[in-house]
Amino acid sequence: MNILLDSIVQAVNDQIGREQTASLSYKGLSMACDRAGFQGAAKYFEKASADEIKHRDMFMKYLTDFDAIAIVPTVSPKPFVYTSLYDTIEGAVELELEVTMAIGTLWYTAFAASDAQTMQMLGWFVDEQTKSLAELRIIEGWFKAYGDKLDTIDHDMGEL
Ligand SMILES: [Fe+2]
Repeated sequence: MNILLDSIVQAVNDQIGREQTASLSYKGLSMACDRAGFQGAAKYFEKASADEIKHRDMFMKYLTDFDAIAIVPTVSPKPFVYTSLYDTIEGAVELELEVTMAIGTLWYTAFAASDAQTMQMLGWFVDEQTKSLAELRIIEGWFKAYGDKLDTIDHDMGEL
């Protein structure tokens, strides 16, 4: 029994694509850091890539629970050219801000449709975005605090 509106199913499937994109984009950041010799940062972004897959799967399970069809669209990672460790963080911030806006729009779509189930489900993702942005803000702070001690920042990113 699918009680979800087609518009909600479509919007959740679009979000599935965004999570997939985020995972591929983080994978790219991880490989770029690995090539540049920053193993801690590579590990951090690898973990972020795996987290995005978990998010994708949570949205897929949500649709499946309501007998709606979950589809992973074909997506490409956001293009990223490595210039510095700091730029990878800024790339991640940009990515997370876009996802945060998209989750907000999705939440509003559910709200406008009086779809309490979807709003409730999205609450977890709203909190998760807050945590992701807060963590990136902390890393940005390390660049101000440690300046050019990139090995320290790399090490600390690997410990997160
Ligand atoms: Fe996500």
